[in-house]
Amino acid sequence: MRLKDKVAIITGAASGIGKATARLFAEHGAKIVVADIDVEGGELSVADIHDKGLHGSFIHADVTIQENTQQMVDHTVNLYGKLDIIVNSAGIAMRLPVDELPEEDWHHCLGVNLTGVFLSCKAAIPAMRKNGGGSIINLSSIYGLVGAEVRAAYVASKGAVTNLTRGMALDYAEDNIRVNCICPGFIETPLVAGVVKNPDEYQKLANRHPLRRLGQPTEIAYGALYLGSDESAFVTGIALPIDGGYTAG
Ligand SMILES: NC(=O)c1ccc[n+]([C@@H]2O[C@H](COP(=O)([O-])OP(=O)(O)OC[C@H]3O[C@@H](n4cnc5c(N)ncnc54)[C@H](O)[C@@H]3O)[C@@H](O)[C@H]2O)c1
Repeated sequence: MRLKDKVAIITGAASGIGKATARLFAEHGAKIVVADIDVEGGELSVADIHDKGLHGSFIHADVTIQENTQQMVDHTVNLYGKLDIIVNSAGIAMRLPVDELPEEDWHHCLGVNLTGVFLSCKAAIPAMRKNGGGSIINLSSIYGLVGAEVRAAYVASKGAVTNLTRGMALDYAEDNIRVNCICPGFIETPLVAGVVKNPDEYQKLANRHPLRRLGQPTEIAYGALYLGSDESAFVTGIALPIDGGYTAG
């Protein structure tokens, strides 16, 4: 029970890393608000939590809309009385280089991956401050630490999330709000399934990780569990790679 009595919002928790994190956090005693634009997936995530006799609630929230992120926080505080943790996992992939990338797709990718983190934090911080502190966990990427080909908008968004994390850690340390990010390697989620279309492609991608495989969503969720819990009370401003060694070389 590493999150006993904690209340957590997890954006993008209808799928993948967010979903695994919601489940693990609930198993460790947290009350969970699942926030996503995918209503069916979000309700399934919550049903999964309820099936285990644990606490969770779904709210439809598009992280690119300030009104939605505010409603997400208000819903959480009204239902569970406070907010301790937010995991910003809502995100999209985009595979094109600058010269081929339509401007509206650039704005869409930055809108979800970067502005979505900004708006979610903007709504969460006053509630955390009122509660005497909190833990913000942003999902950046290995591509928030190193560059990559044909992913201009994605690498730009994740590089910005990594450094936004550091800036916010400095801004809110005196409020006892810790801000960290996780930088996953390739993890087997629907986001990656769209890119890896056959076993050869899987192996090629796996071989870019020294551990020679892709990661599992739960392996990222365990990193978030540490950063969300009081075990990491002296940790703020870090970018934690969980990447099978991808960025070690
Ligand atoms: N899977 C990987 O290999 C990998 C690697 C590095 C970083 N990441 C990051 O981890 C996070 C989660 O990725 P995942 O693989 O679990 O993806 P996923 O596609 O499985 O889940 C992403 C979720 O975000 C939701 N979402 C998308 N736009 C939204 C919006 N505007 N408002 C609210 N919700 C929205 C989707 O509906 C979905 O449920 C993302 O930020 C991603 O960039 C993933």
